[in-house]
Amino acid sequence: MARLVIVSNRVPPPRAKGAQAGGLAVALKEALGRRDVLWFGWTGQTTETPGLPHVTHAGTRCYATADLSPPEERLYYTAYSNGTLWPLLHYRSGIFEFERSAEEAWRAVNARFAAMLVPLLEPDDVIWIHDYHLIPLARLLRGLGCTQRIGFFLHVPFPPTALFAALPRRDAVLQDLAAPHLVGLQTEQDAIHLRQALAELGLETRVECFPVGIDAAEFARAAIKASAQPDVARLRASLGDRALILGVDRLDYSKGLPHRFRGYAALLKQHAQHRGKVTFLQVAPVSRGESAQYRMLRRELDELAGRINGEHAEYDWMPLRWLTRPLPRSQLAGFLRHARIGLVTPLRDGMNLVAKEYVAAQDPEDPGVLVLSRFAGAAAELQGAIQVNPHDPADITEALHTGLTMPLEERMARWQHDYTAVAKPPAGDWAQSFLQALAA
Ligand code: G6P
Repeated sequence: MARLVIVSNRVPPPRAKGAQAGGLAVALKEALGRRDVLWFGWTGQTTETPGLPHVTHAGTRCYATADLSPPEERLYYTAYSNGTLWPLLHYRSGIFEFERSAEEAWRAVNARFAAMLVPLLEPDDVIWIHDYHLIPLARLLRGLGCTQRIGFFLHVPFPPTALFAALPRRDAVLQDLAAPHLVGLQTEQDAIHLRQALAELGLETRVECFPVGIDAAEFARAAIKASAQPDVARLRASLGDRALILGVDRLDYSKGLPHRFRGYAALLKQHAQHRGKVTFLQVAPVSRGESAQYRMLRRELDELAGRINGEHAEYDWMPLRWLTRPLPRSQLAGFLRHARIGLVTPLRDGMNLVAKEYVAAQDPEDPGVLVLSRFAGAAAELQGAIQVNPHDPADITEALHTGLTMPLEERMARWQHDYTAVAKPPAGDWAQSFLQALAA
């Protein structure tokens, strides 16, 4: 089988046990199996004068990672990828910022990556590029004479054309997106939007949707195993008889955390029977902490969490537990299994694998309830969840109340629907189907 060359901005460290990582790293790592792989990307580090990539081998995998210079990190990663593309692709035209110098640095880093990658390539490699940081790469590789098959996957949403049109110099970005043989997105809606945007400029390439999944059976086993560990026993002891509402997200404004906190606070006010009977644990490791938007969000949530606890706590009950550091994935699996409500309410999300993991982690005899944003990609598949409009805290309040009071029979029926959806694709199916389509 031809070697697979993966290119992504973040490259998971070879033998990492998996602290809480972004969806992309998790999805890919689980999907690769034993195939020969070269994985190329950023080290996550900066040096004043970055040189050639560092190469390490681990079994069938080879990792080649390159440093960025401090200005490259600031312009390519923080300013353009996270300050321009991330908000715009998540439909947040009101907060995206644009500077030509940042866009130019983004292109220059892609060009440097392309030049470093070419000497590492073999003629029959299959190249699979990931996410918005690296949109220009396929076209740049072509320009350097690469004839290999190139696929690109966008893990985040793609907005309607009228919204995407706000991006200055968007034509060049769309030309980049037309360069790969195949572009994959998470949902049919995203694929439709990108096809329309390309068609407006008379551009064309294959654009299809491949919803990323998880290995549900494996995650279920991990959750059962984790439940027997001391961490989960400690969590349970600390809760007593109280029902656990659990949220697990990167600390990102796309995740709808302030609305979620307000929805929970209103539950305690309006449905007093839950006071003292529930605990909401929100795990949200700090992410992109160098950006002003993210620092503001953190301050807002610190203040909200303090106010909610100040207003509603009793001397023996803290309604909200708020953690901004990552927890190990294995521990989270056990926590998800024990949660009576999985609260996943992003304002917009490409897929959201936590929603799928929550479903996979449940005890089939006594499953909890997933409260899910209808604007997460996962909503298309997880119709058994209570779906909410995440912009409306009152909708979240009602969903929490419904979920907390839902009879076992209904919980089981809803969970059965969602588990069937989550378990349907066999492990590794997402990567396989993308790669098969790319080969065709
Ligand atoms: C999302 C993106 C990924 C990104 C991850 C973590 O899942 O789709 O490309 O790696 O967030 O964000 P970070 O900026 O820390 O890489």
